[in-house]
Amino acid sequence: MDIVHIGKAKTVYRTENRDEYLMEFRDDVTAFNGKRKTTVPDKGRYNAQISARLFELLEQHGVATHYKALAGDGRMLVKAVEIIPLEIIARNIAAGSVVRKYPFKEGQRLIPPVLVIDFKSDAYGDPMLNDDLIRALRLATEEELATVRELTLRVNAILKDYLNKRGLLLPDFKLEFGKARDGKILVADEISCDTCRLWLKESGQSVDKDVFRYERGDLITAYEEAAKRILH
Ligand code: TMP
Ligand code: ASP
Repeated sequence: MDIVHIGKAKTVYRTENRDEYLMEFRDDVTAFNGKRKTTVPDKGRYNAQISARLFELLEQHGVATHYKALAGDGRMLVKAVEIIPLEIIARNIAAGSVVRKYPFKEGQRLIPPVLVIDFKSDAYGDPMLNDDLIRALRLATEEELATVRELTLRVNAILKDYLNKRGLLLPDFKLEFGKARDGKILVADEISCDTCRLWLKESGQSVDKDVFRYERGDLITAYEEAAKRILH
């Protein structure tokens, strides 16, 4: 099959239908712009299942996504989109890079949520953007930017509520958006343990990629626990 894109953890293929792509969630795990990497069997399957469930949830709440269907282990059929090269991060609780770079305390609640937009570019190390840079680099129009900000806040409210009922806190997560052939902006990429911080409400334990980033134990045990809560 013809490859559209090979990322650090996913491969996107063309299909016979020009409006549809097949996304393969691989078992590769990387962190810190690929400086740390390994392969963990079953990771791709868990991320595909979790993403599918969360995309379905968003669709149920009227948020349009690229999701069409799961297509076997670790594979997902999606609408063909052109990815907007922005990583929109919503933060509800301070953790990760925001604690390293700014005087926030780990675990500090961020009310209202803090949105941060990074440039999706491995070559430049995903630097943080602002409105002027986004405009000057022509990464998105003013209107698209307003849309993705508003959608990210809506997605945050929907995910936070759903996860909270399943005993999970959502400190932060990253979204990517794509433009479909008809010009509509859709939530794209994935929403999984690789792209969300998830903490068990009872213990504060991480059940996301921080387990790998900061060597906090067995990755697949953590992803399995997250999947158990999110899928049921
Ligand atoms: P950060 O604290 O490292 O900036 O990460 C914030 C959130 O974004 C966290 O949930 C992980 C997610 N994320 C990605 O999905 N991809 C990335 O490349 C990075 C840096 C973070
Ligand atoms: N930056 C991503 C992360 O840490 C993955 C990577 O950059 O290799 O989540």
